[in-house]
Amino acid sequence: MRIVLLGAPGSGKGTQAQRLTRLRGAPQVSSGDLLRDAVARGTELGLRAKAAMDAGELVSDELVLALIRERLGRPDALHGFILDGFPRNIAQAEALQRMLASLGQPLDAVVLMDVDPAVLSKRLTGRRNCARCGRVFNIHTSPPDASTPCVDGTPNHDLRQRPDDNEETIGNRLEVYAAQTRPLIDHYRDRGLLRVVDAQGEVDEVFARLEAAVGATRPARPHRGARRRSAAKGSRGTGRAKSARRSPLRRKKQGTGPKAKAQKAKSKARTAAKARRSRAVAKRPTKRTRQSRPRRPK
Ligand code: AP5
Repeated sequence: MRIVLLGAPGSGKGTQAQRLTRLRGAPQVSSGDLLRDAVARGTELGLRAKAAMDAGELVSDELVLALIRERLGRPDALHGFILDGFPRNIAQAEALQRMLASLGQPLDAVVLMDVDPAVLSKRLTGRRNCARCGRVFNIHTSPPDASTPCVDGTPNHDLRQRPDDNEETIGNRLEVYAAQTRPLIDHYRDRGLLRVVDAQGEVDEVFARLEAAVGATRPARPHRGARRRSAAKGSRGTGRAKSARRSPLRRKKQGTGPKAKAQKAKSKARTAAKARRSRAVAKRPTKRTRQSRPRRPK
């Protein structure tokens, strides 16, 4: 699965990407998270990105592309990924297209998370992220409960509000989205990649629609370590029939190998031919019945 989640700030890209990752195994690659991590670690890239982020502007393409290129090169992303918040403008979309073409890994779909702009501000001001497990919550619509335990198994999260989730910066982020990111909708529609999901309603309902929209795309292939682990458990998870996974010797013993199957088919055909012959013989008139026929008058 190689998909992009496209949508306005607060449309639910991060919330749904986390769920999709848990279900499908493909990693969530969020340009916002990568940038916030760089800022928190005080890297040179983070220091250069911080001012734009605080103002709700886009960080320069050069910095974001460097982060994305490095992240998509990691082993867990080689067989699929969910891009969240990237690309954000036409230049980034074209750079992504070139990057994926050189890796021979084109996008499967771009999903637009479609939300009425009127609800976005309330969603964003109510958002809280857990600093320990990274889950996204909302103090109005989805506060933590027993069904969303933190890393220690309890529902006690370390909730933080993002510095750019204030009224003023939110206003600017929405304007930047309309001017620079929204043109990507037509860009991907023209390329036949766009799928639109109604991203309003319960989070579970939205997820069901998202699943249906991306259902036809390939599931992420587990990376080698995971494949080896599941092979050790006795299942390769390749989707092949059970008999095809058995060893040739075992198949021969159980009569499910190709030779045994051919022999079975031959003997079935022989039995059928024999039955046909005996039916034909039974239909033929016997000597006695011929003799007992009344003679035609001469
Ligand atoms: P980024 O972190 O990408 O922020 P964003 O695009 O503004 O998106 P958000 O994370 O705010 O929203 P979301 O759609 O993920 O919503 P969420 O699921 O959290 O970017 C931050 C900054 O980094 C940018 O401003 C820019 O400066 C920079 N940047 C990032 N990428 C860049 C790039 N490619 N190029 C240049 N600069 C870049 O949900 C929001 C809230 O709503 C949550 O509280 C959630 O619980 C709630 N919610 C979700 N679904 C529902 C629902 N169905 N019903 C009710 N509430 C819901």
